[in-house]
Amino acid sequence: MKLRSFLTLLACCCLTFTVWAEDGSRLWLRQEAGSGAQVDCLLHTPVTEVAVRELKTCWKGVPVALQLMADADHRALGPEGYILRSRDGRIVISASGEKGLLYGAYHLLRLQATGADCSQLDVTERPAYDLRILDHWDNLDGTIERGYAGHSLWKWEELPAVSPRYEAYARANASVGINGAVLNNVNASPKMLATDYLKKVKVLADIFRPYGVKVYLSVNFASPMGLGGLETADPLDAGVQAWWKQKVSEIYALIPDFGGFLVKANSEGQPGPCDYHRTHAEGANMLATALKPYGGIVMWRAFVYAPSSDDRAKQAYNEFLPLDGQFMDNVIVQVKNGPVDFQPREPYSPLFTSMKHTDLMVEFQLTQEYLGHSNHLAYLPPMWTEFFEDVCPRSLRAVCAVSNVGDDVNWCGHDLAQSNWYAFGRMAWNPSLTPAQMADEWLKQTFTDEPAFVDAMKQVMLDSREVVVDYMMPLGLHHIFAGNHHYGPEPWYDVPGARRDWMPPYYHRADKEGLGFDRTSRGSNAVAQYPDSLCRLYGDLSTCPEKYLLWFHHVPWDYRMKSGRTFWDELCHKYDDGVKAARGFCDVWTRMKPYVDAERYDRIEEKFDIQAHDAVWWKDACLLYFQTFSKRKLPKDIEKTHFKLKDLRKVQLPISNYECPTKEMLPRYNAN
Ligand code: GCU
Repeated sequence: MKLRSFLTLLACCCLTFTVWAEDGSRLWLRQEAGSGAQVDCLLHTPVTEVAVRELKTCWKGVPVALQLMADADHRALGPEGYILRSRDGRIVISASGEKGLLYGAYHLLRLQATGADCSQLDVTERPAYDLRILDHWDNLDGTIERGYAGHSLWKWEELPAVSPRYEAYARANASVGINGAVLNNVNASPKMLATDYLKKVKVLADIFRPYGVKVYLSVNFASPMGLGGLETADPLDAGVQAWWKQKVSEIYALIPDFGGFLVKANSEGQPGPCDYHRTHAEGANMLATALKPYGGIVMWRAFVYAPSSDDRAKQAYNEFLPLDGQFMDNVIVQVKNGPVDFQPREPYSPLFTSMKHTDLMVEFQLTQEYLGHSNHLAYLPPMWTEFFEDVCPRSLRAVCAVSNVGDDVNWCGHDLAQSNWYAFGRMAWNPSLTPAQMADEWLKQTFTDEPAFVDAMKQVMLDSREVVVDYMMPLGLHHIFAGNHHYGPEPWYDVPGARRDWMPPYYHRADKEGLGFDRTSRGSNAVAQYPDSLCRLYGDLSTCPEKYLLWFHHVPWDYRMKSGRTFWDELCHKYDDGVKAARGFCDVWTRMKPYVDAERYDRIEEKFDIQAHDAVWWKDACLLYFQTFSKRKLPKDIEKTHFKLKDLRKVQLPISNYECPTKEMLPRYNAN
C-alpha cells in the first residue's frame, strides 16, 4: 500500500473512532464544553446572562469582555449590532444594546466552531433587517400544515408545563440571528386568541425573551365572530374595532413585547375585509390601529387568488397595487417570493418592484412543500440569492420564512434540511452572504471541518436545488404536483368541475403544439407586471432566460434551444440530468461514511436513496405524460424509462397535508 493511501486509511480509522453517535438534536450547536472561560460583563439582564453562559461554557480562548457602549459608532449599529475586537490580550464584544452582546457572543462562538483565526478580531456587524421571522404553520391540535418533521413543537395541551425544547429552539434561533416567531398557522383558528391560549403563549414568550426572540400570532380575521360572538367582523364596525382593541390590550398585559399579528385574509377560504366590501388596506389598518400604541405590527399577506382569475400569477399584483400607499406605517405587506406559490423555481413576484409606497417583506418557505418534503435535499440559499438578484434587499423592510421545524428529534426530518433553518437566519442578518459561505459554516459546525467532507458536501448542497428543479420542473415548468399533498408528480391530475387553478394542466398547458403557460401579450400578459426591461426580456421567446421559458411561453416542441437541441429533446435531457445528479449525491454520500457518525450517516443515506428513486419517478411520469402530446421519441442518449405511465397514474400516496411519505409508500424501480 502506498504511504499516502495508508495515511488516508489511518486518518479514516481515527475519525471513525472519535465520532460518536448523534441524533441530530444538537443542530449546529455541538461545541464541547471548555474549562470555563473568563467572561466579564457588568450588565446583568436575562439576555446578557445567556451571552455570558454560552461563552463561559463553550469559549476556549482568551478572556472576553462584554461591554455596553452608548457612543455614536455603536448607536449607529442599532440595538442588535455589535463590534468584536481583540484588545490587550482579550476580546471585547461591544454593543449599544444587550441583544447586540448576545449576537456578538454567538458570532465569536461560530468563529471558534468553524476554525477561524480569532487572534486579531476586528468585526463590525449590523443586521440588514430588524425583523427576521420564522412562521410556524402549526395548528392547535398539534399538526403542522405542510410540516414534515413530526408534530408541533408547541404542546398546547401540556402548557404551561414546559418542554426543554422550547429553550433549545430559542437558542438555535438566537445563534443565527432569528428574532421573531409566529407560533401558529396562517389558516388560523379564532381559538388562538382565547385567554387560555394567550396564557400559554405568554409562557413561550417568557422563555424566548432572553434569546431575543419575540412572539407573534396569526389571527383569523373573523375572530370577533368566532371567538367574541359578534355578528360581524367588518373592519369599519365600531364594535369590531373595540373588540380588537380590547384583545390587543389583553395580549400586551400578558406579553409586553408581543410582536404583532400575521394575517391571511380573503385567501383560500379565509375570512377577510373583502367579505364586507372593504379593502385589504382597511382590514390591515384596523388591526394596525389596535396594535400601534404598543409598538406592534401587522404582517398582511398578499397571497390571494380567485378561481375566476385568467391567470393566478397576476392576481396579488392586481389586488394589491391599487392599494399602494394606503397602509399604515406599522403594516408590512408580506409577499411570497414568487407570484404563484413556493414552486421549485419562479420568477420574483412583480409586487416587489411595483409597490413603492408600502413596506414589504418577502416570505420564503423552508418546509419543502414543493421540494420533496423532508425526503429530498434542496439547499435553498441559491434560490434566495436568485431572488435578491432581481429584488434589491434594501427595498424590503423584513424577511420571513415558513419554518421546517417539528418535534422530530432532529428538528427538521432530514438532517441536512437543518441547513435551511441555519442559512435563513444568517441570510436574514446579511443577505449578501453567499450560499457557499453559509454551507461551509453549517457543515463545519454540524458535522466536521475535515476538508474532504466539507468540500464534497458543500458542492452537493450548492447543486441540490437546481438538481431538484431539473428532475421535477425544469425550464420554467411549475405546479405539476400531485393534488393536495404536493409530493410527487401528477401532471395529469384533473378533477372535472374542480377549481382550474388547482389543476396541473392549468399550469403546463401541454397540447400538440407545445408546452408552457403563455404569459406574454398574446396570452395572459402577466409579463406586463414586470418593469419594462424585464417585460421585454421575458416576453420574447428568443431572449427569455431558459430557466423561465415555460413560465412565460407556450413553447413549440421543435423550438431550437440554445444547446442546439429541440425543446422536446432539451426537456428530456434536463430530466435525465436531474436523475443522474441525484444518483451522484448517493455516491458522494457513500464516500462520506468515514467522517460521519453512524446514526446520521444511515438516516441521510436512506434519504438520498429515496431522492434518487423519486427523481426517476418524476422523470418517467413527466416525460411519458408529455410525450402523449409531443408524439416525439425520447432521445437515445438518455436513460430508458423504468416505469409505465399507466402504473404511475395509479399511484396514490396515503398521506395528508402534514406528512412525509416513507420509503415503503413510494414507487421504486428495479435498477437491474
Ligand atoms: C399553499 C399551501 C397551503 C397554505 C398556503 C398559504 O397554498 O398549500 O397549505 O395554507 O400556501 O401560504 O397560505
